[in-house]
Amino acid sequence: MQRTDWGPLLDHTRRLATEFLDGLPDRPVAPARDATALHATFDRAVPDEPTDPRAVIDELVRGADPGLTAMPSGRFFGWVIGGGVPAAVAADWLTTVWDQNAGSAEGTPAAAVIEQVALRWVAELLELPVASAVLVTGAQMASFVGLAIGRSEVLRGAGWDVEADGLHGAPRVRVLVGAERHGTIDKALRLLGFGARGLTVVDADRNGRMDAAALARALTVDPGAPALVCTQAGNVNGGAFDPLRAIGEVVAEARAHAPIWVHCDGAFGLWARAAPARRALADGAELADSWSTDAHKWLNTPYDCGIALTRHAAAHRRVMRGGAAYLPDDVPAVRTAFDHAPELSRRARGFALWAALRQLGRRGVAELVERTCAHAARLAEGLARLPGVEVMNDVVLNQLVVRFGDDARTRAVLARVIAGGACYPSGTTWRGAAAIRISVSNWTTDDDDVSRALEAFARATAEV
Ligand SMILES: Cc1ncc(COP(=O)(O)O)c(C=O)c1O
Repeated sequence: MQRTDWGPLLDHTRRLATEFLDGLPDRPVAPARDATALHATFDRAVPDEPTDPRAVIDELVRGADPGLTAMPSGRFFGWVIGGGVPAAVAADWLTTVWDQNAGSAEGTPAAAVIEQVALRWVAELLELPVASAVLVTGAQMASFVGLAIGRSEVLRGAGWDVEADGLHGAPRVRVLVGAERHGTIDKALRLLGFGARGLTVVDADRNGRMDAAALARALTVDPGAPALVCTQAGNVNGGAFDPLRAIGEVVAEARAHAPIWVHCDGAFGLWARAAPARRALADGAELADSWSTDAHKWLNTPYDCGIALTRHAAAHRRVMRGGAAYLPDDVPAVRTAFDHAPELSRRARGFALWAALRQLGRRGVAELVERTCAHAARLAEGLARLPGVEVMNDVVLNQLVVRFGDDARTRAVLARVIAGGACYPSGTTWRGAAAIRISVSNWTTDDDDVSRALEAFARATAEV
């Protein structure tokens, strides 16, 4: 066996990693080169000969660095992206080194136990009646898992066994979604056999919240049909929450006529339930049957870490059951991930999730949520003072949507702010108009970051 002297290579890599992390406060947030330029750097022929590992790492860092966005920076406000709290970053390094294939409890006991405990902690922090949960890549796959279980359960309630008989000839399942749902819901539904034309789209208000009365009306059409209802805790643009309690009550009545499953997409918003002062926003989320959320967004674990949760343990296992003669089954008290996740081989994401929760504790998670929301409120106040700026959403969480006059000016301000490097918001279309969205999701964002971002916007507004 070839033995490697790991120390020098990993010490060297640690120095490079530390340089990157220490440089974040000063580094321009936007990458220096775009993907086309980077492509030219890396698009070479397959190398014929082996290369010394340290030289490989140096070449990687030299080539990649100009194409790195400072996503873990406190001034990265694009999409909804967290950083990594230190214990989670360090645990994630160990995850790579330990290289556990976290598919089974017998094969990788530490990974299995720690994932299961971390998931229980998540359920407790979010105060959700979870009976079964699993880690996946992100909210996209978590919604896929939740809706797959829902599809099976509502069809079962209508007398159809989708695990045995598939979808051909199955009773029609109605799928009701809010007008401002996230695109990952559509994709999860498509993968599960529910095409775009079959969706019933329920109206949403100006902040993107589903109209519960409109849902009630929609459920009276074909009231005996099995149905999936997709709700949202935290709109990707403005952070608004569907009226989850009212929706839960509407569904409870409609269940007198048909089996109905409620899935709640709370990729980041569900974490509001971990902060006492914000919890009311997501009140009623506990009435759903399944939930999707992420640790890699607001909880600040490194990518990737999605979380699928459900109150229906037996259905979860039945739908995701892998089973293979050569694979070990559950061990007492710890379940096999392969029987709960879509994948067999999988990264042991539980180590980083456990480490983040262990570092922050209940208080740290609540403070992270509150602090980022407070920064978002300050950004909203500061931006609203600039001439011609409209804050388009009710800023209830860590998200804001702003517009600078017309579409062209808004896009020009966005381009200038990003090019300036001081902060990185991202663009969107909101109520049919171009807008800039700001998500404060990073655990390191502080008052100085907020001030620098406001200065950058003030400069860009004056110049455009
Ligand atoms: C509400 C919502 N749902 C789903 C997603 C998708 O999450 P992921 O990229 O982890 O799959 C996002 C991403 O921002 C989101 O905001």
